Amino acid sequence: MAEPKARIRKFLVVIDKTPECQVALRFATRRAQHTGGRVTLMCPATPGEFQQWRGVQEIMKDEAHAEAEALLHAAAKTVNDLSEQDWAQLRHDLGNQRALGMSLDAGGHLTHGFRHNISGKMFDQRSYGTDPESGLVDYAALREQAREFRPLIIIAGYSAYPRLINFATMREIADEVGATLMVDMAHFAGLVAGKVLTGDYDPVPFAQVTTTTTHKSLRGPRGGMVLCDADLAPFVDRGCPAVLGGPLGHVMAAKAVALAEARTPDFRDYARRIVENSRALADGLLRRGVRLVTGGTDNHLVLLDVSPFGLTGRQAESALLQSGIVTNRNSIPRDPNGAWYTSGVRLGTPALTTLGLSGAEMDDIADVIATVLRATTPLTATAKAKYVLDADVAAASRQRCADLLAKHPLYPGIDL
Ligand SMILES: Cc1ncc(COP(=O)(O)O)c(C=O)c1O
Repeated sequence: MAEPKARIRKFLVVIDKTPECQVALRFATRRAQHTGGRVTLMCPATPGEFQQWRGVQEIMKDEAHAEAEALLHAAAKTVNDLSEQDWAQLRHDLGNQRALGMSLDAGGHLTHGFRHNISGKMFDQRSYGTDPESGLVDYAALREQAREFRPLIIIAGYSAYPRLINFATMREIADEVGATLMVDMAHFAGLVAGKVLTGDYDPVPFAQVTTTTTHKSLRGPRGGMVLCDADLAPFVDRGCPAVLGGPLGHVMAAKAVALAEARTPDFRDYARRIVENSRALADGLLRRGVRLVTGGTDNHLVLLDVSPFGLTGRQAESALLQSGIVTNRNSIPRDPNGAWYTSGVRLGTPALTTLGLSGAEMDDIADVIATVLRATTPLTATAKAKYVLDADVAAASRQRCADLLAKHPLYPGIDL
């Protein structure tokens, strides 16, 4: 296995996957020209902020220097202007680091190597999918792929996979090929903290690096965290400021509150109810003939295949919104409609669980969804966005949603 120092240079690139990084990289490449190759991946807005960041800059410069030469090749352009050739050169200069992540249409995230995302450009990247029949991760196929591709990093985690991932197996595969396992638990961090995902399904003991957002099922402020093995900590600590716009004290405080809440019995109860509600929603949809990717759920999300209704994900999403239900369209495995129109709709239960909705109400929601989808048709035979929804169904559904929510006010003590 590579020495930590060598590995962390590569992690700096992994962490540089956010939209913020695109801005940071743009500044970095410009600054690299002006500072004789010393890259400072930050853009302080005020003199005060500049002072605050100088310490960080000092820490950064040794590590960053190594990246500077590679970045200089692309220096005259912004990230969005780089040609395929520029990216190939950059990948080459960074040592053609290989990453293997879950494909977008199988439920992976854009930042796990999708070709249009910076993560898919800075790495020599390949994706793993799911079994075409079951829709589940095929660990044997993944192991074969890893043996053949020999990635430096295997990325596990998802934004639209309704089942559990066995992280013990993922780590075994990573170890076998000498890769580092990075898990992005952004979506299910609340289920980890709430002890619903334990044993082989808890990523933290198995991943060398675990990243998360704090604002999804963890129910904290918008933000993120990186957890890692102790040997990597000094390097991750240096890498992280590279993609931060500024230290936000109020967000740090809110994260502390969220983490304190996550340790309480109430939070465990919330995490357990999220999955109960998700299962109840899935069952309600299945009983009404709706097709679900993988046939159900084990976590906080449910992925509908709306193609049997003759709809794209985009049409279904809009019709549901018009009927009082906020969802988002999402690709399904081997999606014929691509990542823009899609054939799926993704549902998640954390927000409704926080409001206090439970089993029978999930069934009601399933009924509203099935009713709306049945009452929606594409505007024309080839339309992928425009649709027609029966106005009476839309109005009745909005009323049903309003009635459900009226029983669960967001802030009971405040008259909104
Ligand atoms: C798996 C995963 N990782 C990271 C993110 C990034 O979160 P955000 O875009 O909210 O910063 C998301 C958001 O959808 C996600 O699903």
